[in-house]
Amino acid sequence: MDASQTARELIAQRKPGYSLPQAFYNDQGIFDLDIEKIFAREWLFATPACALPKTGSYITQKIGSYSITVVRGADKEIRAFHNTCRHRGSIICKGKTGQVAKLVCPYHQWTYDLDGKLLWARDMGPEFDPRQHGLKPVHCRVLNGLVFICIAEDAPDFDTFANKAGAYLAPHDLSNAKVAFQSTIIEEGNWKLVWENNRECYHCAGNHPSLCRTYPEDPSITGVSADGSFPEKIENHFRQNEAAGIPSRFHMSDDGQYRVARMPLLDGAVSYTMNGKPAVSKFLGNVPVANAGPLLMFHYPTTWNHFLPDHSITFRVTPIGPQQTEVQTTWLVNKDAVEGVDYDLETLTHVWTHTNDEDREVVENNQQGINSPAYEPGPYSASHEDGVNQFVNWYCATLSDETTDLAVAAE
Ligand code: FES
Ligand SMILES: [Fe+2]
Repeated sequence: MDASQTARELIAQRKPGYSLPQAFYNDQGIFDLDIEKIFAREWLFATPACALPKTGSYITQKIGSYSITVVRGADKEIRAFHNTCRHRGSIICKGKTGQVAKLVCPYHQWTYDLDGKLLWARDMGPEFDPRQHGLKPVHCRVLNGLVFICIAEDAPDFDTFANKAGAYLAPHDLSNAKVAFQSTIIEEGNWKLVWENNRECYHCAGNHPSLCRTYPEDPSITGVSADGSFPEKIENHFRQNEAAGIPSRFHMSDDGQYRVARMPLLDGAVSYTMNGKPAVSKFLGNVPVANAGPLLMFHYPTTWNHFLPDHSITFRVTPIGPQQTEVQTTWLVNKDAVEGVDYDLETLTHVWTHTNDEDREVVENNQQGINSPAYEPGPYSASHEDGVNQFVNWYCATLSDETTDLAVAAE
């Protein structure tokens, strides 16, 4: 049985409200299917635009076994390309990040302009047409300082998300940000376990002493409110922010792929620091309410984010293998903020550096336990884990749609 058929059958047999069957967390065939049917088709968060500050700044991003490069051109535009040379296919940008004058293939030095045009290829004969051998472009959109890419030939709609999320993001002015710090960690767990863990705070009290100083573990804040209603305190928070002109109300897309909401922190806290005070004195953006709380935005399958009045934090999830996931965290501050004057790097990064490491550990424990032959899907808590259920439902629906399309096309 091929992996799509296995996945379809397991999804059909799945008990609603329960974690997934083991194969979804450790099988190579289903992992390959996740890459092909989800990561190669959806819009993926690549990087904050400010991580590409100069002409020729680039990052590379893995999608399964292959690589994409995102690069800023001489005209300041950000573009994305398949990181494969049009000569004999070598990768071109080798590092995770860097800066180049031109994109030069390390193998035979074919040289491409930053907009992908082939500029130079030695001794290819009179018939050779460089115009036919430019780098293959990848869809690329910059949304309020956040770069998204999509390698599908026909990219799904991005505008609906961009319009909605753009209004929530605008007060954070990420186009005037700089990277204060970036961490890249590997979690020995399937990418869906990384997401499941992110989508609940049932584990927070037992695992996240620093985060819990400011972040409420209240499920009405961390969950997805199936019926769309919120306790009065949170409704008041939305009202207070919206009256000040900043979109805040919880919004989830119809297909469940993304959510934006500006949620309250614990009373008295305004940022993710050990004392709840701002981490940066020169704020990034112009959120006019001190206790506006973090704008929480996720977009499956690659990013969750916390945009605060004083700074912002982006997260990028990259599956590496069936039991390995990279999580890249980027702390953004006002481009004019000076380290040691306007912020202290340890204070800025303390809570989420610790929280990421604690999350890594619980995800790895989760993976190891799931690998047991005794593992069977277990029930989610309806009150604390509705967000996990929502993610898993989105995953199953997205994978089923894609694999069903495939089955129909093959008939
Ligand atoms: S493979 Fe790139 S120049 Fe030959
Ligand atoms: Fe966590």
